[in-house]
Amino acid sequence: MPLYAFFQNQFLPLSEAKLGVMTNFLHYGTAVFEGIRGNWNSEQKQLYLFRMKEHYERMHAGCQVLKIDLSYTVEELCRVSVELVGKCEFQEDLYVRPVAYKSSEALGVRLHGLDHDFLVFAFPWGPYLDIDKARCGVSSWRCPREIPRAKLTGLYINNALAKTEAIENGFDEAIMLSADGYVAEGSGENLFLVEDGKLVTPGSYDGILMGITRNTVIKLAENELGIKTIERHIERVELYDAEECFLTGTAANITPVAEIDRRKIGSGEIGEITQKLQKIYSDVIRGNNPKYADWCTPVY
Ligand SMILES: Cc1ncc(COP(=O)(O)O)c(C=O)c1O
Repeated sequence: MPLYAFFQNQFLPLSEAKLGVMTNFLHYGTAVFEGIRGNWNSEQKQLYLFRMKEHYERMHAGCQVLKIDLSYTVEELCRVSVELVGKCEFQEDLYVRPVAYKSSEALGVRLHGLDHDFLVFAFPWGPYLDIDKARCGVSSWRCPREIPRAKLTGLYINNALAKTEAIENGFDEAIMLSADGYVAEGSGENLFLVEDGKLVTPGSYDGILMGITRNTVIKLAENELGIKTIERHIERVELYDAEECFLTGTAANITPVAEIDRRKIGSGEIGEITQKLQKIYSDVIRGNNPKYADWCTPVY
């Protein structure tokens, strides 16, 4: 399968998209990135990019933070991404990785006086947490205090520390606390609990990335199941007592959490509400629910 990138304003084979070693963002994390899912619908022989517009809106917001004057509008970014994915002729689930970055080959910690560029590439990617249900550990590494967090490459180092700590401790994923010690999120996912039949999730004040999957789940729970979501601080010990817990993210979709810090959550199996949401979400992202067709951009 041919893989392509859109790089320095043109499409080219992914293997030819190369950056110089002095490129500013490699050294200081001065880039904004996104992750967009392409979901293959085998009956329709169609590939749908999910909530692409919202991802590029979030990228534009991140560019404001980093003083990156992105020369492409959201609509142009969407068009380029559809063309890129179409060229790769994918017939499977994939991931699109756009990056807006400080492209000058210039060292020195700053945001000003640097050029910027945009690149995007796509590659086949199945489930991120390749398990039915995750075993998680609360990390000793906390989320940085920036509120609410933009998806900036330089902010991900604590997440990487947390993820590897979790894996080395025998877990599948880390749960990070906020700088104030409240539950924040996974290393690459938002977190929800089920409590008295309602969803509970941390808010932007807990330093989380305001996930697009999080937003999707809040809307689907309300519209399809009549379940409300309460946004509030969550104490660490509340995790252990939750009826259900799950993680949400573009890469991870909805991943049930069976265990936290070696304590079973609920029955230790996939909870009833989690299971219902997984089914609804899976239909929506594959373009099988016409009510949410606006969220799905067909590639072919
Ligand atoms: C730290 C973090 N939190 C949450 C999320 C979930 O965000 P989204 O649903 O927009 O993918 C991600 C995924 O990119 C992430 O990296």
